[in-house]
Amino acid sequence: MALKTLADAFHDELRDVLSAERQLLKALPKMMKKAHSAELKSAFEKHLAETEVQMERVEQAFEDTGKAAKAKKCEAMAGLIEEASSMMEEEADPEVMDAVLISCAQKVEHYEIATYGTLCTWAKLLGYANAKTLLGQNLDEEERTDKALTKLSTKINQSAGV
Ligand SMILES: [Fe+2]
Ligand SMILES: [Fe+2]
Repeated sequence: MALKTLADAFHDELRDVLSAERQLLKALPKMMKKAHSAELKSAFEKHLAETEVQMERVEQAFEDTGKAAKAKKCEAMAGLIEEASSMMEEEADPEVMDAVLISCAQKVEHYEIATYGTLCTWAKLLGYANAKTLLGQNLDEEERTDKALTKLSTKINQSAGV
């Protein structure tokens, strides 16, 4: 599809983030299983539930574009998940594995924050009010998740020692 207008770019990016959320929905249970700390497990569990709702919001955001909600493979998320998967295969002390899992998860959150930030800016410019609200809610959630992980990492990194 040719990207002639900002509306085209918005639609393309929305397809990308739909794929990103779908990929993460499959990856999070594996990260949850691998986490040792109960707090980290529940942080992943919480974000898994949020991710399901986020996917629905993205699907609804397509309405403003007048086009069908169809995903397009997000290669960046595929790469982030692939890297996380290979890290999870490493032999590591429980606390160190938790620290690594947080690092992988925060890379994902930062990617999502960048994407939703752009999408919100574009939605505003395009006058897509509904999409702007829905994507803004996702952006807030990703930012909160990132902050919660930072908080958790302070504790976990300390117990992982040096
Ligand atoms: Fe998300
Ligand atoms: Fe997220």
